[in-house]
Amino acid sequence: MNSARIIGASRTLGLGLATEFGRRGWAVTGTVHGKQRTGLHELAETSHGRVSVETLDMTEPEQISALRARLTGRTFDLLFVNAAITRGDSRSARSRPRCSPRSCSPTRSAPCESWNRCAPW
Ligand SMILES: NC(=O)c1ccc[n+]([C@@H]2O[C@H](COP(=O)([O-])OP(=O)(O)OC[C@H]3O[C@@H](n4cnc5c(N)ncnc54)[C@H](OP(=O)(O)O)[C@@H]3O)[C@@H](O)[C@H]2O)c1
Repeated sequence: MNSARIIGASRTLGLGLATEFGRRGWAVTGTVHGKQRTGLHELAETSHGRVSVETLDMTEPEQISALRARLTGRTFDLLFVNAAITRGDSRSARSRPRCSPRSCSPTRSAPCESWNRCAPW
């Protein structure tokens, strides 16, 4: 079974991707940002175990490390980073202005520097 990890899957594009990959039979691990119930939780409940929910704030390096630890041993066929888009006005954006478009698709975002440092690739 193919598997996808989607960072920022609570709504809009990320949720749409999670829904479509799940419909096509992929295993999907999506992340939500806050503590509230989201569309991803509803999707997971009706996915027969194919969709799972993790919590992550991409601007918090310790949360990135914790997610990495929770997913140790898992491999993914696809990673889609849809979250933590800034307009350059965050503390992270000021202190880490450079990032890699390759690992931050679809748009460049400053917090990806901390993600790159902690992520398992
Ligand atoms: N929607 C479109 O038609 C469209 C078209 C072209 C380009 N784009 C670009 O694609 C990107 C995503 O668009 P979207 O419409 O899906 O955006 P969105 O509706 O704002 O969704 C962003 C996702 O990222 C999560 N997120 C935000 N901050 C986060 C953080 N610090 N850590 C972890 N997760 C975080 C959000 O979680 P919460 O729900 O918890 O906040 C949500 O799941 C944006 O850069 C947008 O400009 C969108």
